[in-house]
Amino acid sequence: MDSNKLWILSLCLLVMVLGTKATAPKKPVDVPFGKNYVPTWAFDHIKYFNGGSEIQLLLDNYTGTGFQSKGSYLFGHFSMQMKLVPGDSAGTVTAFYLSSQNSEHDEIDFEFLGNRSGQPYILQTNVFTGGKGDREQRIYLWFDPTKNYHSYSVLWNLYIIAFFVDDVPIRVFKNCKDLRVKFPFDQPMKIYSSLWNADDWATRGGLEKTNWAKAPFNAAYKGFHIDGCEASVEAKFCATQGKRWWDQKEFQDLDAVQYRRLKWVRDKYTIYNYCVDRKRYPVMPPECVRDRDV
Ligand SMILES: *[C@@H]1O[C@H](CO)[C@@H](O)[C@H](O)[C@H]1NC(C)=O
Ligand SMILES: *[C@@H]1O[C@H](CO)[C@@H](O)[C@H](O)[C@H]1NC(C)=O
Repeated sequence: MDSNKLWILSLCLLVMVLGTKATAPKKPVDVPFGKNYVPTWAFDHIKYFNGGSEIQLLLDNYTGTGFQSKGSYLFGHFSMQMKLVPGDSAGTVTAFYLSSQNSEHDEIDFEFLGNRSGQPYILQTNVFTGGKGDREQRIYLWFDPTKNYHSYSVLWNLYIIAFFVDDVPIRVFKNCKDLRVKFPFDQPMKIYSSLWNADDWATRGGLEKTNWAKAPFNAAYKGFHIDGCEASVEAKFCATQGKRWWDQKEFQDLDAVQYRRLKWVRDKYTIYNYCVDRKRYPVMPPECVRDRDV
């Protein structure tokens, strides 16, 4: 056997070993803010604790603030632990989202809409593909998101985009390329978070205004876990790297237990779903037809 053949044979063996080994998702690792993130604007409205392993964003009548990941990523698992603005948070919006930077952009959103003291937050999610959004879903949470840290995460691979609150899937956006629905697959995204005033629409559709007497408002963060294919250097790199854990069979769809949990969220906590908004969409959007199986 010449050395060329030997080389090809060992390469095949390597691919077989790597390709068949089921890799469990790594448990999110708590890393300090500065490892993966930098402030985006109003740097003086971010406070750091415990050597930067925890931060707070502040909003006052002068400005909100935000931060973004240093790198851009094509696929992976992204999570953040957040404790939302407590007390009278009406009019405030805290967001955690992934977005690509070009005009026909892709975006995956978590938006937390504040409320008057004792009234429930709304978690709004949305998915933009090729510049098209208008896919809002809104739920109430089954806990008070201002009392403790909870984890909010996105799993994104070529097959699904899944939104999780702690371990509970609250939304799945499947790749429906076959139904001519665009799916984010070639535009790296950065991760962003921000706290700002949106009292023109956020709470009861804009009826409840921000109570500036209660400012500064603050949202707390820790975790800062990113496990994705970093594409800032060269976008094509991720597509050619071969299978990573999030591409494995077990992450290409939710399992039965996860679908039961998703159904529980649909049945008990969902207050709006664009898929069933007949006024807005007399014809059900194609991706929703598949969504209906849940
Ligand atoms: C903002 O809040 C500060 C402190 O409460 C107050 O002194 C100031 O007048 C406010 N500015 C505006 C533009 O409302
Ligand atoms: C705020 O509370 C009101 C009254 O309970 C509720 O209708 C609304 O959905 C809540 N959330 C937001 C963000 O408006």
